[in-house]
Amino acid sequence: MDFEIRTQLPVEWPEVVALINRAFVPDVNAAQLAEWVHDSAGWIDDLSLVAVQDERLVGHVMLSQLPLRTPNGDVAILCLTPLSVEPEAQRMGIGRGLVERVLRAAATRGEPFVVLEGSPRMYARFGFEPAADYGIERPSELIPEPAFQLVRLPSYRPELRGQVRYPDYFYEIGAVGP
Ligand SMILES: CC(C)(COP(=O)(O)OP(=O)(O)OC[C@H]1O[C@@H](n2cnc3c(N)ncnc32)[C@H](O)[C@@H]1OP(=O)(O)O)[C@@H](O)C(=O)NCCC(=O)NCCS
Repeated sequence: MDFEIRTQLPVEWPEVVALINRAFVPDVNAAQLAEWVHDSAGWIDDLSLVAVQDERLVGHVMLSQLPLRTPNGDVAILCLTPLSVEPEAQRMGIGRGLVERVLRAAATRGEPFVVLEGSPRMYARFGFEPAADYGIERPSELIPEPAFQLVRLPSYRPELRGQVRYPDYFYEIGAVGP
């Protein structure tokens, strides 16, 4: 069935949180983390996208900013998390549509790359590679090295290297690592 992908409206946020909770059940960290990011300086309105089917929200993805610690100081880079599709709407291409669209939006903004923590089995198909191969270090050893990935965008610069930092909140709620 057809679906549309568009920018999330501010008024839709509570509905998005409920959707994240349904997609990640029984894990509550993803929604908790998303809510924290939503109220943080890393949030970017234009990079929270929803998938709509029959006037119903069935998917969501967002990119938000994290600091990359480089020898020349901190640089804001983008992280993809969370990605959620309504359980009964999964395996219909909605997740793929959301990831492809949000990566295009990041490329249009001139972002060098997007990082994420996730299964390489899931994300290699979208061009994600081990971040360590490009000198981008994972925020914590709690994350298995192959799980911390990046996708290079047209504005990628190989000299941009460093360690991605997660805010303390990520650790406080146990949202780091498998
Ligand atoms: C993961 C998730 C977002 C995928 O959404 P979806 O709409 O079902 O994905 P799609 O139908 O677009 O499938 C995209 C590709 O991923 C594959 N895929 C889907 N779910 C997968 C999974 N759990 N593991 C590995 N591959 C998966 C599909 O086979 C498809 O591959 P192809 O296009 O090469 O054939 C969805 O299952 C979900 O919300 N899961 C719960 C939350 C979650 O785990 N989010 C990701 C956390 S990193």
